[in-house]
Amino acid sequence: MTHVTGSVSLGIFVGPWYLAETMADNTILVIGSTGKIGRHVAERLRERDVTVKAASRSGPVHFDWHDEATWPGALDGAQGAYLVDSQDADRVPLLRRFSALAAHRGLRRLVFLSAREAESVNPTLEEKEAAIKDAGTEWTILRPVWFNQNFSEVAAFREPLRAGELRLPAGDGPQPFIDAEDIAEVAAAALTTDGHHGRTYDLSGPEAISFGEAVAHIAKATGRDLRYRPVSAEDYVADPAAFGAQPGQAEGYALLMAAIAEGKTSHLSDGVKQALGRDPRGFAEYAVKTAATGVWDA
Ligand SMILES: NC(=O)c1ccc[n+]([C@@H]2O[C@H](COP(=O)([O-])OP(=O)(O)OC[C@H]3O[C@@H](n4cnc5c(N)ncnc54)[C@H](OP(=O)(O)O)[C@@H]3O)[C@@H](O)[C@H]2O)c1
Repeated sequence: MTHVTGSVSLGIFVGPWYLAETMADNTILVIGSTGKIGRHVAERLRERDVTVKAASRSGPVHFDWHDEATWPGALDGAQGAYLVDSQDADRVPLLRRFSALAAHRGLRRLVFLSAREAESVNPTLEEKEAAIKDAGTEWTILRPVWFNQNFSEVAAFREPLRAGELRLPAGDGPQPFIDAEDIAEVAAAALTTDGHHGRTYDLSGPEAISFGEAVAHIAKATGRDLRYRPVSAEDYVADPAAFGAQPGQAEGYALLMAAIAEGKTSHLSDGVKQALGRDPRGFAEYAVKTAATGVWDA
């Protein structure tokens, strides 16, 4: 594993003493450290002997996208940062200002959690990514598809499943669901090893399956009679509570599901293999591992 180090110039050999010093000094800021991906990024970094500044509004390092006074303290002492944006309307200018500040304060690497999303769902995708790329640091962009962990960590999907039936406007569209652990491992590799600068990793799982097939995996793993039923986007948006969603979530979810139903985000990609040299985890593995936690028990 090659950690962030100074470059070798003038033919001077940078020996192990220098590498050891740099590794001991390796501190990385993880924004969104309590989230589905950030949590695992922090764990993977600690396994690599990195000092992690775990930041969010409720994290050990207080950071709020909407309170710029919290930014310098979070950046202090960090050589790199993992970023998940605020998901609010002003996220592009916030990302741009934050990335510029990070570069100004000497951070060398930024790794940004973007998404594989259809233009119909997220017209600002390219702008968000450009905010990172333009900062002047080394950068890596992660574009994952739908996370496996949505089924177990997002109440709008977990709770209907626990009750026995998940109803969504996703039709029978295929989606190569990806595991949060794989995304986090790619992020940790990009933050701590060379060869990832300037890369946009399109991250998918190993097979495209429908929501019905995903729920069948969970049913098998739990031994429960769980079902998926496609519903219309109109019904879903008209009465979100009937489907387990919050009023503010339903329209966004319906847009995402429409893109999935139409197969717009269904292609397989080899981003995990490119970054880590191995294949991604499959959905069945996630279902078995997660069922054992009891999260889908009645
Ligand atoms: N879910 C999917 O299937 C999927 C697929 C592809 C891409 N994505 C992308 O993944 C991103 C979401 O990542 P995730 O699932 O890891 O997030 P998440 O589980 O929703 O967690 C969000 C994190 O951000 C923090 N946060 C929220 N608002 C904040 C604010 N104003 N200031 C500082 N921190 C804030 C939260 O902690 P606090 O509450 O403590 O602040 C939490 O740690 C989105 O950009 C989405 O587009 C998601």
